Amino acid sequence: MAGRAAEGTMRGGATTPLFRPDRLGGEESGPLYLRLQSLIRAGIAEGRLRTNDALPAERELATQLGVSRVTVRKALRGLVDEGVLRQRHGSGTYVGRPAERIRQPLSRLTSFTEDMTASGHVPGTRWLDRSAGPATAEEATLLGIAPGDAVTRLTRLRLVDGDPVAIERAIVPATAIPDPAKVGASLYDALAGAGMQPVRAVQRLAAVSLGESEARLLEAAPGSAAVAIERIAYLPDGSVVECTRSHYRGDACDFVAELSLSPHGAGTDAGPASPTTQASQG
Ligand code: GLP
Repeated sequence: MAGRAAEGTMRGGATTPLFRPDRLGGEESGPLYLRLQSLIRAGIAEGRLRTNDALPAERELATQLGVSRVTVRKALRGLVDEGVLRQRHGSGTYVGRPAERIRQPLSRLTSFTEDMTASGHVPGTRWLDRSAGPATAEEATLLGIAPGDAVTRLTRLRLVDGDPVAIERAIVPATAIPDPAKVGASLYDALAGAGMQPVRAVQRLAAVSLGESEARLLEAAPGSAAVAIERIAYLPDGSVVECTRSHYRGDACDFVAELSLSPHGAGTDAGPASPTTQASQG
């Protein structure tokens, strides 16, 4: 996220404060932090603040407006929770992107890269971990292999148009991807290249709230809503080729499934639930 400084401090050579203190008072009533929130929303609606603009520092805003830093912090935190603003650890507060959600199909076995590209977005990846090692007991159960068998672990922050939307933790048997460094922008491209393309998957979604470190990576407020997804993907012979657990920002995606009336009446097409998919979402 580039983040130009919000224009208000310098415009056309003259210095004009982004928010004028008199606009906080006047006729409006109600708690100060709510009035400050309205002021920021108005700045966005009027185009003085645009997506990715950096807001002045807390202290500067407090001085400009003649309010306490506590009030500024409370106002900003509320807007971060709503997704109007985003906070980057150690680097400030920015205007969030408008609430355009990314569509993720639930009825097709596609990759993140395919989904984002198909909807006109630019997918990106920041690697958090790319390693290989012996499977733990839990990993072995998930992948249906023996404890100690070699696995490849891929943990990535997934970006859309430069903004973080998901953290994905994938484990793959080393028989499919022996060298983690060989995975580039797309895991599914790497699997296809190795002749190990999954043909079926069971996916589970659950509502969760973000912990401290996940929130920081996703530039969201700790405790904010997220969707946990677990995908177990299979090869034609029924063996597991991928187990990925992801956390998506709750405000980033719409999960879309097409439903049709089954000619045979009610039933499930989720396939047999393998015991591995019963594992709780992390
Ligand atoms: C989606 C799925 C993951 C899968 C990933 C592959 O995000 N939820 O289970 O690993 O796509 O995406 P890519 O090929 O872009 O790495």
